[in-house]
Amino acid sequence: MDNPNIVTCTAPVNIAVVKYWGKRNEELILPINSSLSVTLHQDQLKTTTTVATSRSFQEDRIWLNGKEEDITHPRLQSCLREIRRLARKRRSDGDTELDSIGLSHKVHICSVNNFPTAAGLASSAAGFACLVYTLAKVFGVEGELSCIARQGSGSACRSMYGGFVQWIMGQRDDGKDSLAQQVEPESHWPELRILVLVASAEKKPVGSTSGMQTSVQTSCLLKHRAKSVVPDRMVKMIEAVRKKDFPAFAEITMKDSNQFHATCLDTYPPIFYLSSVSQHVISLVHRYNKYYGETRVSYTFDAGPNAVIFTLEQHLPEFLQAVQHLFPPKTNGGKFIKGLPVNSAVLPEELKKAIGLETMSNGISYVLSTKAGPGPCVVKDPAQHLLGSDGFPKEML
Ligand code: DP6
Repeated sequence: MDNPNIVTCTAPVNIAVVKYWGKRNEELILPINSSLSVTLHQDQLKTTTTVATSRSFQEDRIWLNGKEEDITHPRLQSCLREIRRLARKRRSDGDTELDSIGLSHKVHICSVNNFPTAAGLASSAAGFACLVYTLAKVFGVEGELSCIARQGSGSACRSMYGGFVQWIMGQRDDGKDSLAQQVEPESHWPELRILVLVASAEKKPVGSTSGMQTSVQTSCLLKHRAKSVVPDRMVKMIEAVRKKDFPAFAEITMKDSNQFHATCLDTYPPIFYLSSVSQHVISLVHRYNKYYGETRVSYTFDAGPNAVIFTLEQHLPEFLQAVQHLFPPKTNGGKFIKGLPVNSAVLPEELKKAIGLETMSNGISYVLSTKAGPGPCVVKDPAQHLLGSDGFPKEML
């Protein structure tokens, strides 16, 4: 067989601080409001994708986390179709460099996450961002790609950039102006630190795609939010990020998370993503901030019970102590704190008293410590390819 053309890339997870919830067009994935997120560092959370093309491949195929999946999935098909369309356009525009890239060749795709999907950490955003970025490299497509990633999963468009990223909802019916833009790069706010508190989940929550459909159909609070709340919040959030104004950033983040979960409760039948552990984390953050008389810590929750905490480096060790105090970890389990190291600190007795909440043993299975990070990257080392020179997965994980 011909040697395949192989490219491997990685892409990050992002966490929204102004949430996307609701589509105005299901097929193109056009949202009812703009949103803003922080891209998380790939050292802790990333998807790696290898794409190979060869004249010898009989059909397009995909393997996700070691298992072959259905390539006919409509959202996968949208991404493949759009990349091939752009590649064809570039060639017909006269880019001769592309002549060697077989546009008619089939692709083999292999993708893995460096974190468990079960951790509920928006793997579809990193997954589709990585797929689109890697396909674009293979087919020699450049330029605006977030519109294509958006058609895989809405939040994926924001994973196409590092740092602080807005997804502008756009006005057009064809979606061409519904795209992601970097607000500030990851280097802008190095003191900002992030903790993912992975709650021990009892059950799989309602998926975002179907959850937001029901919300659009039934929640009038969601309509009000999209029309009258988010536009102003986007302006204020961008300003807070630009000025590195932590209290403003933190307050909008918490209020927006709370309103998103309120629209879930306003959905009929209602959707509950927050668990008793999530509610405990919310109380802890507010009591902690009240004790100091300033907003030092904030939380946000997506479509699941895990809390994502933002704080500044200087407050991180003590707050983490407070988390461990409230959620005593299993002693026999693995490491409780994973990712970036955190200095130890003592929790003042007075603060412990001020928090005053009941402890919840094993409520949190582990804490992932991370920060803002860069967008998708190409992996140069061929040893890292997930597909071998025969175009098939090197190992089934
Ligand atoms: C709560 O992007 O997963 O995480 O577009 O249907 O694939 P689809 O939904 P998805 O929704 C994410 C919802 C959220 C908020 C956010 O990331 O903005």
